[in-house]
Amino acid sequence: MCGIVGYVGRSEAAPILLDGLKRLEYRGYDSAGVAIVNGEGVQTRKCAGRIAALSKLMAQKPPSGSFGISHTRWATHGKVNDTNAHPHFDQSGKLALVHNGVIENYGALKAQLVEQGHTFETETDTEVLAHLIGSIYDKIDNNDSKGRLVNATREALKQVIGTYGIALLHADVPDFIVGARRGSPLVLGVGRDENFLASDVSAIVAHTRDAVYLNDFDLVAVERDKFEISSIDGETGEHQINKVEFTSEDISKGDYAHYMLKEIFEQPDSVRDAMRGRLNTEECTAKLGGLNMTAAELRDVGRVVLTGCGTALHAGGVGEYLIEQLASVPTEVEFASEFRHRNTPMTRDTLVFAISQSGETADTLGALRESRRKGYRTLGICNNVASTIARESDGGVYMHAGPEIGVAATKSFTSQVVILTLIGLLLGRMRNLSTAEGSRLIEALEALPDQIEDTLKLSDHIKSIANKYVDVSGMLFFGRQFNYPIALEGALKMKEITYLYAEGHPSAELKHGIIALVRPDLPSIFVAPDDGVFSKNLNNIEQVKARKGPIIAVTTQSGAKQLKGIANDVIVVPDAPDTLMPILTVIPLQLLAYHLAVGLGRDVDKPRNLAKSVTVE
Ligand code: F6R
Repeated sequence: MCGIVGYVGRSEAAPILLDGLKRLEYRGYDSAGVAIVNGEGVQTRKCAGRIAALSKLMAQKPPSGSFGISHTRWATHGKVNDTNAHPHFDQSGKLALVHNGVIENYGALKAQLVEQGHTFETETDTEVLAHLIGSIYDKIDNNDSKGRLVNATREALKQVIGTYGIALLHADVPDFIVGARRGSPLVLGVGRDENFLASDVSAIVAHTRDAVYLNDFDLVAVERDKFEISSIDGETGEHQINKVEFTSEDISKGDYAHYMLKEIFEQPDSVRDAMRGRLNTEECTAKLGGLNMTAAELRDVGRVVLTGCGTALHAGGVGEYLIEQLASVPTEVEFASEFRHRNTPMTRDTLVFAISQSGETADTLGALRESRRKGYRTLGICNNVASTIARESDGGVYMHAGPEIGVAATKSFTSQVVILTLIGLLLGRMRNLSTAEGSRLIEALEALPDQIEDTLKLSDHIKSIANKYVDVSGMLFFGRQFNYPIALEGALKMKEITYLYAEGHPSAELKHGIIALVRPDLPSIFVAPDDGVFSKNLNNIEQVKARKGPIIAVTTQSGAKQLKGIANDVIVVPDAPDTLMPILTVIPLQLLAYHLAVGLGRDVDKPRNLAKSVTVE
């Protein structure tokens, strides 16, 4: 959510910043801008629209200079227009700032600054922060301009309530950028005679794979050949330089039309990677060393809470069924945004999992912190290894799914479900899941990558189905048991990238109200493999059919036979145990949303109003 890139070095900053912004466009894409300094002062280019619009603007009047900051915006305060695009400036016009996050007390700070004679050009909270830092800088009486800028930033941030990842520069302080973070990610890229700042390493991995992931309350002073990290309070500490796991090739689209399609097709590998080294065939259980829990502690777990947002929450929904089924441990899935503010009564033997692809989602992070504050062991299920959730949790399981760039989450979902299955297996084998059951589950897990491969072969068939439904007014999604969260996830994908109205429901709820919506231009998608509840689903399908609602069924071979002449369109996925079915049934729904979105001419990888990694509440 909002992307920051900064550069100090010997090369021209403009192409480096622009390329970095393109890599970060998934974080926000309503406006963008750069500020680059050379001997003639700060040169700014900014405009509403995508990075392509900024690129055009920069091509008309190229800014030159070897240090600068840049930003791609997802608006929180202030309309989307050229003026509100970052960077923002202080009163002198010499200090430029880009910001990711929300300054909650900006109103009060602004009022004080207005009283001191400051005038503002924008409606943003960021401009207030720029003015605050600038006003402190101007008052500091010291010849060391770098030290002044660092101290001014430090003093200003002490007055701020809210979240920020920031990068700033000053026209009078050459080859110098200051960055700081609290609640919004910021990484320092360490190069040779050049250094970088970014919200995410993907922006800078083409230039360096050495990265320092800043912690909350860190402040970094970046120069060409050195950097210094201290806390906002002025204390210095140890910081490790990490090797980034992926290369710039891993974050390219390759031959795929969209990142989303590439990531859907990566699922045989990402699912394999989620299981790699974690299956213990000897003892028919799972090995999850990252949980940092002894066998005795795992045996004592009396309750599990799974928390997350959006797609991660839906994975948790599958996890609730899985852990209860496999381990008989009472499990609840909770919206992170609700859980963190609710006074949920929990017993001391509760184990909490924060599920998050990015590991930076503000609500999930809030839930994790609240849960830890109350003393519950809280683990992470994250993809981004350097993320705040991964670092702040008591342990966890990495997804190893590789970078997910498409804003609509796909491969991260199936990896999360695989990991929750492994957790269910591990807890189950310490309770009453037999060796035979454990062994069958492991065999079925090992078969999944090939089965996903087969499911992906249905893409053209699903495209032809999607093409039939481009004129519909919306879609209803239904499923039971393990596939109820899949109905929710299918509807979410459909909403996000086609902008069609779509909702997911437990199939049986149909007759309790939803059936009133059934009509010929509102298809119902039933996720109905031939499992223990298939006959019940069949009843619901018949109820829709009787009211002339079109039906698309995602089912297995034997289910398809029974749906002949009933469903308008049938998508047949390979058979698997009920527990693993969601990993197969979700893929046709990802593809259906994808093909329909393409058919409708939507911007699949950058759907309107959305951003990946939601670091605001
Ligand atoms: C859906 C989607 C969002 C995210 C949600 C949580 O396609 O991308 O709903 O799933 O914002 O994000 P993470 O998993 O990064 O915490």
